[in-house]
Amino acid sequence: MTTEATRGHTFDGIQEFDNRLPNWWLWTFYGACLFSIGYWVFYHTIGVGELPSEAYAIEQEAAAARLAKQLAENPIDDAALLKLSKEPAFVAAGERIFKNPAKCALCHKPDASGNIGPNLTDDMWIYGGKPMDIYTTIAKGRAADPANGYMGGMQSWEHEGLQFVLQTTAYVLSIKNTNVPGKAPEPNAKKEQ
Ligand code: HEC
Repeated sequence: MTTEATRGHTFDGIQEFDNRLPNWWLWTFYGACLFSIGYWVFYHTIGVGELPSEAYAIEQEAAAARLAKQLAENPIDDAALLKLSKEPAFVAAGERIFKNPAKCALCHKPDASGNIGPNLTDDMWIYGGKPMDIYTTIAKGRAADPANGYMGGMQSWEHEGLQFVLQTTAYVLSIKNTNVPGKAPEPNAKKEQ
């Protein structure tokens, strides 16, 4: 198959052989052409196949439906949150989020002993230390209400998704009453076990 014939041009003294393309190469090329026709017809012309973005959207919808069903069957309440706070893997996921310097640790410190936000390891709570209170604080945030002595500054985290809120709630519940020395309780905080 190799010939000594050249293409007849010379660049800087370099010549090019005029060899046939090898068959194995040609067959992969023809194969790719055939495959692309099949692919185009299957996915685009008659549209039987799901393109990756469609498959992804369908999966997301199914996951949202599963979550909605799960929530309808097991509503989020104090008991459910307490149970989650005893699941080590779930709490560990919450801890990773909490200690992320751009997330909770930014204002509460990585050890949750308080900085801009209050110490979350004591038994003093501004908005209540019951599981649903903590869940609501994290999900909805707490806006300033100076007339009633609330400084606010805790943002809502709902946009991060339910899993994020549940995991961080579980983590805060797991460190509650561990009493890490840090920021003194806010004047409007109340004692709560
Ligand atoms: C930008 C700063 C900031 C970030 C980030 C932040 N917090 Fe807060 N957090 C605050 C402030 C300030 C308060 C107190 C609000 C007040 O006094 O009205 C607060 C209050 C709280 C409370 C209620 C404490 C109580 O005594 O009732 C909880 C629980 C809490 N944060 C958890 C979290 C978690 C979990 C995260 C991460 C997902 C987080 N915070 C991220 C600033 C922040």
